[in-house]
Order: sequence, then C-alpha cells, then structure tokens
Amino acid sequence: MLKIGILGLGTVGSGVVKILEKNEENIKNKVGAKLKIEKILVNNLNKKRELNFAQGILTNDAAEIIDNPEIDIVVELIGGEYPAYDYIIKAIENGKNIVTANKLVIAKHGKVIFKKADENNVQVCYEGSVAGGLPIIRPLQNSLAANKIKKIYGILNGTTNYILTDMSKKNKEFADSLAQAQKFGFAEADPASDIEGADAAYKITILSLLAFERFVDVNSVYVEGITNIASEDIKLAAEMGYIIKLLAIAKNSDQGLDIRVHPAFVPQDHPLAMINGTYNCVYLHGDAVGQVMSTARGAGQMPTGSAVVSDIMQVSKDINFNQREVQRIDKFLDSQVVDINEIENSFYLRLEVYDQPGVMAHIAKIFGDNNVSLASVLQKQKDNPIVPLVFITHQVKEKDLNKSLKAIESLKDVVKINNIIRVENNI
Ligand SMILES: NC(=O)c1ccc[n+]([C@@H]2O[C@H](COP(=O)([O-])OP(=O)(O)OC[C@H]3O[C@@H](n4cnc5c(N)ncnc54)[C@H](OP(=O)(O)O)[C@@H]3O)[C@@H](O)[C@H]2O)c1
Repeated sequence: MLKIGILGLGTVGSGVVKILEKNEENIKNKVGAKLKIEKILVNNLNKKRELNFAQGILTNDAAEIIDNPEIDIVVELIGGEYPAYDYIIKAIENGKNIVTANKLVIAKHGKVIFKKADENNVQVCYEGSVAGGLPIIRPLQNSLAANKIKKIYGILNGTTNYILTDMSKKNKEFADSLAQAQKFGFAEADPASDIEGADAAYKITILSLLAFERFVDVNSVYVEGITNIASEDIKLAAEMGYIIKLLAIAKNSDQGLDIRVHPAFVPQDHPLAMINGTYNCVYLHGDAVGQVMSTARGAGQMPTGSAVVSDIMQVSKDINFNQREVQRIDKFLDSQVVDINEIENSFYLRLEVYDQPGVMAHIAKIFGDNNVSLASVLQKQKDNPIVPLVFITHQVKEKDLNKSLKAIESLKDVVKINNIIRVENNI
C-alpha cells in the first residue's frame, strides 16, 4: 500500500479524491498497489465540504503531511506561490515524491525544485500544471522525446478562449463576455491572471522548458492580454479571413528563445482557429514527427483531477517497482528570451483618421521611412468626418513598427491608434 498526503481540497483536490475513490480498483490494478489517502491539508477545518472523510483525515497543519514518515507522495493543490513552494521543498527534503498542478511554482521555481528532487532521489510530476486535462507534459518528456521541437503554439487559457469565442460568435464587447464567463464559472471573481495573460505565460514557460531543455526567467516572457480587444477588431479580422486568439508562443531560434503571450490573428482555416470555448490546444512542430495537435478541456475539477491522478499513478508505479524516471535536468541550459523589439511579425493596425486628402500619403511615407511595407489597406467609408483605417503589414521588426507608430500618432490628421495586433500567418 502507498500512502498519499494531499495539500488542498478545493476544485482540483476534490476531483482527485473523487477519481481515486471512483476508480479505486482499476487504479490498484494498473499501479500494482492500493493507494490510500492518509491526510488532506485544508485552510479551514470548519468549511462545509461536498465530500465526507473519516475523523482525522483533514488537518490544517501541513507538518502532519510533509513531515509524516508514513506518507510516500505529497500532492500539492493549494495553489499560489507561498506557502506552496516552501511545502514542496520541505517535502522533497523529507524524501517525498511530489505531484503538483501549480504552474506558477513550476514556472518560477522549477530549476530549484527539480535540482532538489534529483539530490533527494525523488520525482516531481506536474501534468496538471499546463492545460488541465490535456496530456502534454509526459508526451514532451517521453513520446516526443526523439524530436527537436522547433516551435509550440498554444491556446492555454480557457477563460480567455471562452471570452474571445463569445465575443466572436455573439458580436459582444469584452466586458459583457467577461461578465458571462464569470456567471458560468469560467472566470474567477478576480480574472486578472487569465485576461492579462500571466496564466498562459507560466504555462508556455513550462512547455518551453521541456521542449527546448532551457530554463528561462518567466518575468522576461513578453505578455499582453485580451482586455483591449474590441468587437470591431474581431469583425474586421473575420472580414480579412482571421480569428483572434490569445496565443502562447515558444520558438527556438539562433538569437535565443522567442517566448511570448499575446492576442493574434490566426488564419480562419488553421486548426487553432477552430478551438472554441473553454478548450485548450497545443500545436507543435517536431523535426521528425512534423505537426502534432492536441486539444482538451484546459481546466475544471475532473479534467485537471485526471491529469493529477495519472501523475500519482505513475509515481506510485515507479515506487512500487523500485524505479525512478530521471529527467536529466542537469543538462538543461539557462537561456535568454529574445527581446520582443527584435521579433519580426506581420501586424494588424486599426486607426481613426480625419477624412481629408493627403492623410494616406502622410502615413504611407512614415511607414516607408521605417521599413514597414503594407500587405493590405482597408478604408471604411462612413458618413462621418472621422473614418477608420485598417492596415496589415508585411513582416516587420517590432521596433521599426513602433518607431513608425510614434510618428503616425503625432500626425494632426490621425485621431488615434485604436489597436495593434500581431498576425501569425506562418504557424
Ligand atoms: N481549478 C482548475 O481548474 C485548475 C486547473 C489547472 C490547474 N489548477 C491548479 O491547481 C491548484 C489548485 O487549484 P484549485 O482551483 O483547486 O484551488 P482552490 O479551489 O482555491 O483550492 C485550494 C485549496 O487549498 C487550501 N489552501 C489554500 N491555501 C492554503 C494554505 N495556506 N494552507 C492550507 N490549505 C490551503 C484551501 O483550503 P480551504 O478549502 O479550507 O479553503 C482549498 O482546499 C492551483 O495551483 C491551480 O493553479 C487548477
């Protein structure tokens, strides 16, 4: 019998307990040992819970789990940076194997945690940390290991994908779709980490760590959320054959790693454009396998519980058969993220200008002076002195585009620059 201590009995913790109970016999057969939940850490012992436990299982003292010599595997599901990080480190020092779904802790502190685990001859598994129920951590470590991964594109945040899908299908503004996502439980009361892109940045940092075997500082990843996307942008994108998605991108290049999270125009006929609602998707390119795409629900009690329990089972099997999967993280290099200003992209630009002769010529001259060439121009005629002007550029360095936008902004016939969105034509 193997004994498990769970830190946290919220959405995911409860899902893990349910799966371990419901599929107990099946899990025992696959693992070769019975798995017993020894203790569960919660914050508030008096909280009303949907699950019932025997006296003494719930505790609010973390030491009863991480310092408990009976416990083989510690499952960290409290979330946040601290005390989760401290508990993981302490548990590893006490010889416990770790399973966690904590993207923040793995993205920020993975290097220290993996090193500590190696020193203590234990494993750290984190399939639930990226894209909930979508299997991607273990495939990158095992099934795709023969490949050099060139690039990864992910839709890694269900909340923002739900909002963008709702805006797109129902012609709604961001605030209305966010309110709807909150009403249906697809967005938290404080949605900042999701809608501003930080959540996706943690996840793409973890994927690039595995794909490229490089550690990067998550704070150096360029992050832009979806709060500025207007229904007008979505409508114009559709007219030009695109759909707007919040993309998490990681590419390996000679200058370093190009890792970023931002909204992007995705061609309507690309498989990523078809990922709707709360679904997540990872689309990657390996030198041997070619393109691989995988999609599943990226969050929620049972999908994330599924990933966490499969990690618990893998670790249990390894303990039971006296083996340990070694990840060779000692070979991983530290790497810089390429400055966003040096990245080349095509861009969508939406401006408002005074409808008078010469405005186009002034703007075109500024673009020309800054090496920005245009792929298309769309001018909507309105019975109004102010008209929208929409451009798609060819590939241009971000810094050259910014230089030209600064000059365009100061033109007296330009009212304002409404939005700038990267166009990903070569996914
Ligand atoms: N929710 C998802 O769909 C999802 C998907 C993928 C990954 N994840 C990750 O999974 C982890 C857990 O998320 P969740 O949504 O299950 O969180 P949650 O619903 O907020 O649950 C957190 C649990 O941890 C307990 N807890 C929090 N801080 C604690 C502390 N300092 N000491 C003791 N107990 C503490 C809480 O106790 P009380 O019950 O007493 O309040 C609660 O049981 C996070 O890392 C999250 O990023 C979640």
